[in-house]
Amino acid sequence: MKVDVLLGLQWGDEGKGKVVDVLTPRYDIVARFQGGPNAGHTLEFEGKKYVLRSIPSGIFQSGQTNIIGNGVVLDPVLFAEEANALEASGNKLTDVLKISKKAHLIMPTHRLLDAANEKAKGKGKIGTTGKGIGPTYTDKISRNGLRVGDILLPDFKERYEAARNRHLEQLAALGAPADMAALAEAEAKWMEALGYMRTYDIIDSEHFVNKALANEKSVLCEGAQGTMLDVDFGSYPFVTSSNTVCAGACTGLGIAPRSIGEVFGIFKAYCTRVGSGPFPTELFDETGKRIRDLGHEYGAVTGRERRCGWIDLVALRYAIMINGVTQLIMMKSDVLDGFDEIKACTAYEIDGEITRDFPYSIEEGSVKPVYVTLPGWKTDMTKMKSEDEFPENFKNYIAFLEKELATPITIVSIGPDRNQTIERKK
Ligand code: GDP
Ligand code: IMO
Ligand code: MG
Repeated sequence: MKVDVLLGLQWGDEGKGKVVDVLTPRYDIVARFQGGPNAGHTLEFEGKKYVLRSIPSGIFQSGQTNIIGNGVVLDPVLFAEEANALEASGNKLTDVLKISKKAHLIMPTHRLLDAANEKAKGKGKIGTTGKGIGPTYTDKISRNGLRVGDILLPDFKERYEAARNRHLEQLAALGAPADMAALAEAEAKWMEALGYMRTYDIIDSEHFVNKALANEKSVLCEGAQGTMLDVDFGSYPFVTSSNTVCAGACTGLGIAPRSIGEVFGIFKAYCTRVGSGPFPTELFDETGKRIRDLGHEYGAVTGRERRCGWIDLVALRYAIMINGVTQLIMMKSDVLDGFDEIKACTAYEIDGEITRDFPYSIEEGSVKPVYVTLPGWKTDMTKMKSEDEFPENFKNYIAFLEKELATPITIVSIGPDRNQTIERKK
């Protein structure tokens, strides 16, 4: 059996959660492989809306096992809050959710370090989600991290204290000494949440997944963030601290590359970004505001305004290449339903030269997008049930994108609800 991967091709918030939920009935296992509570994956069905941060979006369907993989960083307090809220709304989690022993723990001091690092960067700040993601991955790579499996060890408390004390020194060096009373309070909550986490199956998830594959089970891997936020290939240094690309599913779950089957690349019919960093097709005018209002483009985690702009095909082509995308999924085209004209950036102009290849740097001001203008479809598509109903100009938009991106668009999402999803005929 193969492992399929679904991941974002832009700067996150493409609609991954919604589509993972839609595709889940076709799989036995749904797994997160990187990121942590910096993610906010929104699902809507039966008139209700849910935002998932660390728990995979397969949790609402029935019969699947959901796994938080080794590549994930987990904040026990946020995990407990998220899980409790789901249980309160009638979803029994402990039977269906498993956590890798090798996932790393976000400590209260990681969050303090995240804030202190951002402050130290001043104007050059990344605009992180403040969840302690960078410092936790830093500890992982520098071989200082605490893992979920460590909470089962007799000397966990000593390990915790050693890490905490190291962080306190780092905070002092950054000129941001911790408020010890507030920290003690946060630590008490954190320890209590660990107790709750222990009620879950904490497993060697790489064995679990590979045994499942040997038994002909299928796996859907759910990416978090997006390719342009990948620590290697994104708009560095304005990125997150994990590998959001397809290869991250291998390292973040212990899956061999040859097991990867379909790679679903998901993108919005336009483009958004939250936090700082370059964004060549960003719109600062009324059109950008119109996209933000119609698309409700406000962060699910931080509530920040998302920056909005036209679709960037140079960046998308790059993302498709890096991930080996086999199928594209286009989201939120309904947001453009009323537009007279739609623009798509097909190339960049850099120092007077036109390029279709994504460059080393897209530093603000260095890249001028080259646009093609296409006629809008001016049709409310939100209630459509099949591609046969698509207006001609929308069909043309899809055909244009498929040609530019040399990859088929197999699913189109025309609204936030589970039901507003159209699969195209193969
Ligand atoms: P994720 O992080 O990739 O899972 O995406 P987010 O949940 O952060 O952001 C996507 C937002 O768009 C959520 O509020 C979804 O409910 C919403 N959404 C998803 N698909 C569509 C769509 O096709 N049309 C509209 N209008 N909204 C959508
Ligand atoms: P989902 O999974 C959009 C952005 C932050 C910031 C940068 C680094 O919902 O698509 P971090 O806290 O990770 O150190 O922040 O990455 N970022 C996201 N932007 N969607 C996300 O997740 C994001 N996760 C992180 O805004 O610019
Ligand atoms: Mg999101």
